[in-house]
Amino acid sequence: MPKLIKKKPKRRGLLSFLKPKRERGVEIKPKQARVIGVFSCKGGVGKTTTVANIGLSLVDHMKGDVLLVDANLSAPNLGLHFGELSPKVTIHDALAGDVQIDEAVVKCQGVQALFGSIAYGEDVRLVDVRGMLAPLKNKYKLILVDSAPGIGREVVAAMKACDKIIIVTNPDVPTIASTLKTFRAAERYKIPILGVVVNKVRGEPYELPIKEVKKALGWPIISAVPEDRKVRESTAAGVPVVRYASKSPAAKKFREIGEFMLKRVAKG
Ligand SMILES: Nc1ncnc2c1ncn2[C@@H]1O[C@H](COP(=O)(O)OP(=O)(O)OP(=O)(O)O)[C@@H](O)[C@H]1O
Ligand SMILES: [Mg+2]
Repeated sequence: MPKLIKKKPKRRGLLSFLKPKRERGVEIKPKQARVIGVFSCKGGVGKTTTVANIGLSLVDHMKGDVLLVDANLSAPNLGLHFGELSPKVTIHDALAGDVQIDEAVVKCQGVQALFGSIAYGEDVRLVDVRGMLAPLKNKYKLILVDSAPGIGREVVAAMKACDKIIIVTNPDVPTIASTLKTFRAAERYKIPILGVVVNKVRGEPYELPIKEVKKALGWPIISAVPEDRKVRESTAAGVPVVRYASKSPAAKKFREIGEFMLKRVAKG
């Protein structure tokens, strides 16, 4: 009668979990942040509001793997959206050589951010934003960049630092017309566009319907965020609306944009 040979189950050493993952066959990939920028030629459309809210909503999913950067170096105000009137350390301190760029990262409301100095009064020389962010890329999975309005050298430097960009607009003809310049710049510098956020949608008859906005711009609309009084209140309170009024219609939309970004980052 053939002997039944029972295979002994392989015993994992009790302390095998202490072995480095590489030895257990799982390779630890180094972090290499995707840099996503939020741009729009027109001022006041909601770029900073978008960055602040996506950033805060992503913290729940990505914890410390997301960094917000205020690349509006001549008139920074990302800090204000988090109630930081005078951050203890800023990008401007790093640019002045007083601290290393990673030492200028502050934690605020659970978010890690490089804020600018609102009090900075001198002319800002042209900064190589890509070079500035390079030492931070292996510390995060996603770097979200807020930018200045217009399409000047400061904006172009920020755009060139991005792997992809989101363009924010409002549903009115003058804003759409000036937003086209941002699209042209992205094409000129070969920066892929993730899509468009149409912000401050009131649903009034004088507005361009979202379908028309899509047609005019020729890019997918990631989200249409309603004009919502809670957003203005939240900005005044220095707490992004996803936390200030988490059930408000705008907060819901900003969270959806966060989820969209999360999928993109997961996909790489
Ligand atoms: N969906 C919204 N509903 C109502 N108010 C909004 C909405 N989005 C932004 N705002 C308000 O619009 C104002 C301008 O927003 P924000 O600072 O984000 O614009 P911006 O594009 O970054 O401006 P800038 O070009 O000057 O940097 C803020 O007071 C903000 O609270
Ligand atoms: Mg702004």
